[in-house]
Amino acid sequence: MFRADFHPFKVEQFLSELEHGVTYNFSESGVHPISFQGLVDMADIDLPALMATLIDYPQVNGKQSLRDTISGFYPGSSSDGVMVTVGATEANTLVANTLLQPGDNVVCFRPTYEQISGNAANLGNEVRWVDLVEADGWAIDSAALAKAVDSKTRIIHVVNPNNPTGRILSNSDRRQITAAADRVGAWIVADEVYAGTEREGDVETPSFWGSYDRVLIVNSTSKAYGLPGLRLGWLVGPEDVITECWRRHEYASITTSMLSMELADKALSEPTRSKLKSRAKTLIRTGFDVLTAELDRHPGVFDVVPPQASAMSFVRFDLPISSEDFCMRLLREREVLVIPGSRFGVENHFRFSSALPEDYLREGLSRLNGLTSEILQGH
Ligand SMILES: Cc1ncc(COP(=O)(O)O)c(C=O)c1O
Repeated sequence: MFRADFHPFKVEQFLSELEHGVTYNFSESGVHPISFQGLVDMADIDLPALMATLIDYPQVNGKQSLRDTISGFYPGSSSDGVMVTVGATEANTLVANTLLQPGDNVVCFRPTYEQISGNAANLGNEVRWVDLVEADGWAIDSAALAKAVDSKTRIIHVVNPNNPTGRILSNSDRRQITAAADRVGAWIVADEVYAGTEREGDVETPSFWGSYDRVLIVNSTSKAYGLPGLRLGWLVGPEDVITECWRRHEYASITTSMLSMELADKALSEPTRSKLKSRAKTLIRTGFDVLTAELDRHPGVFDVVPPQASAMSFVRFDLPISSEDFCMRLLREREVLVIPGSRFGVENHFRFSSALPEDYLREGLSRLNGLTSEILQGH
């Protein structure tokens, strides 16, 4: 028998069961991935040297040069305060396993990517939800936050920019979170995988690093760099906490792969790092314009708070159908995949990823509009 109180990761379950083989996939959260050849060309990688790499276990906490590079992104951090993980996924899981003790609670914002909350619930910790306010552009409800945080709060979890809304925390929201954590000595775990995917302007989302002493940063090559298949992420924090996470990393995965470590080292070094981020931004900016133009074909049915960052839009719809049924009909009848809002705990929404080639995007959206017309006609 299996544990009856296990909480599956609803979004990832939906993706892993349904996305393979679908014709029009708008369910992913990153930009269209770059090919190996594309990365080799962009980073001017010496292929014969790469080919000579031994496919061995790499340094378990991360190749020194890679940790030096990552540490450089966070002024005041040290390379021993950086650990390379198997994506942000492993980093989030290690953080929950390392920080949480029985009786602790975790404060999370909804909707969000439920990786810390799911791990916390599976460890038997209480998860306290603070709803983001759609009418206020998905901003934080500061009164609800203040009420949720108490002396048993061990982690306040933020995804910034957020998945699925694409909202970037305002300075005032950031100050409220830091003040709430400081009041009770909680950790802020900031998942910043979408930093660098800003849709407007050239200002990158500021990191929580340096804003408070109990901060752990989670990031990866998956989103802003278009390299999810490397399965390479990182965790940054005080050296003693990172060492504790490292002890758990030896159980969870030992390490990410040697080739991923080598390729990430190239991808995160300048000028390649900036080139990859600018590639992601170009895809994000054109994709969102196509999405809104297509959704406007049904005035009054769709509404979206424009995401400030990321490839994703969390679209509200006014149709007589649940989000799960809408998405399953879309998949079965039109071969189009998007994620139901219910998987994020919010009805009448779906998450749509639009940083994809334009023709593909237009065809998928025309299918979505086709189903919408049918539902409006009562079919
Ligand atoms: C906020 C957030 N954190 C972490 C992850 C997992 O990313 P990775 O591919 O680095 O494991 C995702 C993936 O969608 C995400 O949206």
